[in-house]
Amino acid sequence: MANTILVGAQWGDEGKGKIIDVLTEEADVVIRYAGGNNAGHTVLVGQERYILHLVPSGILRPDKLCVIANGVVIDPVSLMEEIQGLRRLGVKVDRNLVISETAHVVLPYHRELDVARENRQGRHKLGTTKRGIGPAYADKAARVGLRMLDLVRPEVFAEKLRRRIRENNEVLRAWGARPLSYRKVLQEYQAAGSFLQPFVANTVALLHQAIAEGKSLLFEGAQGTFLDIDHGTYPFVTSSNTTAGGACTGTGVPPNRIDRVVGVMKAYTTRVGEGPLPTEDAALGDLLHSMGREFGATTGRPRRCGWFDAVAVRHAVRINGVDELAVTNLDGLDTLSTIKVCLGYRVGRRQYDIPPADVQELSACEPVYAEFEGWCTSTQGARSWKQLPTKARAYLKALEDLVGAPIRIVSVGPAREQTIER
Ligand code: IMP
Repeated sequence: MANTILVGAQWGDEGKGKIIDVLTEEADVVIRYAGGNNAGHTVLVGQERYILHLVPSGILRPDKLCVIANGVVIDPVSLMEEIQGLRRLGVKVDRNLVISETAHVVLPYHRELDVARENRQGRHKLGTTKRGIGPAYADKAARVGLRMLDLVRPEVFAEKLRRRIRENNEVLRAWGARPLSYRKVLQEYQAAGSFLQPFVANTVALLHQAIAEGKSLLFEGAQGTFLDIDHGTYPFVTSSNTTAGGACTGTGVPPNRIDRVVGVMKAYTTRVGEGPLPTEDAALGDLLHSMGREFGATTGRPRRCGWFDAVAVRHAVRINGVDELAVTNLDGLDTLSTIKVCLGYRVGRRQYDIPPADVQELSACEPVYAEFEGWCTSTQGARSWKQLPTKARAYLKALEDLVGAPIRIVSVGPAREQTIER
């Protein structure tokens, strides 16, 4: 398989986990390059459902090497628990998981600051996952972060942590939050550090070695294009580059070693947390929630739902250089007699065909819709493009024309076999 970046083309939760699982079959190495345990995807281990937050789902296949690369921020306690959980389910992790020594560490003060800032913002809050992701990346940019190579050296870690806790406790006190106990944090994190130490390595060297050996790499994006710190609906974004460029900076693999970018999108739109969602539609949300769909894997929050937004996805196709699309959750639309698609935005007489950068302006945008006839039949049993109802195929063809990239994969249910490769 060509070296492939897989990205979310919307606001995250596009169903990337399942498409990654399909593409993993052809890959040798699967790599997480951005974000932290704010991401989450549900995988099936035998009959058990298990939620992975940091470990690439390739871990379920013993012949795949899984890498958590330098662009990720790691909560070591949470990662240790994830690995222990996998071991309990009989999944072998010891020889096929490698963690970058330069990935930054999420510490308890990051989580406390995340929560305290959200509380202080009141109605201006971002709706974060409260996992400390923003403050951890802020420390990385401010050059006061601790990295995995610090965590696994107990004396270095003890000294650096002491200084960081002292400074952060000042901020926490000033914000009316409870300061942290240095001893407690040290104990907990040194234990996690010694547990994770055997997994920590120079992943840049390892990935270049894999490339030299002709192995194929799959870069597993987390979150989605419009949560990207540079290209998303700022400030209602996460704190990393979730788009395709992040795969290079987040791993040390250069752009000229990338062969293909796959964009994943739902057949409609969802978002969790605050921020504009131009095509949001409460009735569609009620329908999807009543079917038991669209609850977040990390926080359990019901996702906000809307119609497919071709303006947004067309922009995502450009930013990421999407070569191929995978459409998920087509079956979510099976019962509808009319399906809307947003072709453009309008504010008064002004028309937009790319999303405006200012969130106030984006929030004021009214979608301009086209309507499609629904197929009103279950697509869950379809196993080929031909087996999809004609109206569903017409809908998908319209989407690919509108966004400017071909659809190669269609997913019609959670199971691996409910995947159509066109
Ligand atoms: P943070 O990443 O926890 O700082 O949250 C920032 C924004 O990104 C919030 O709106 C979150 O709901 C959203 N977000 C973070 N991770 C995910 C994800 O994996 N899926 C969908 N939304 C996410």
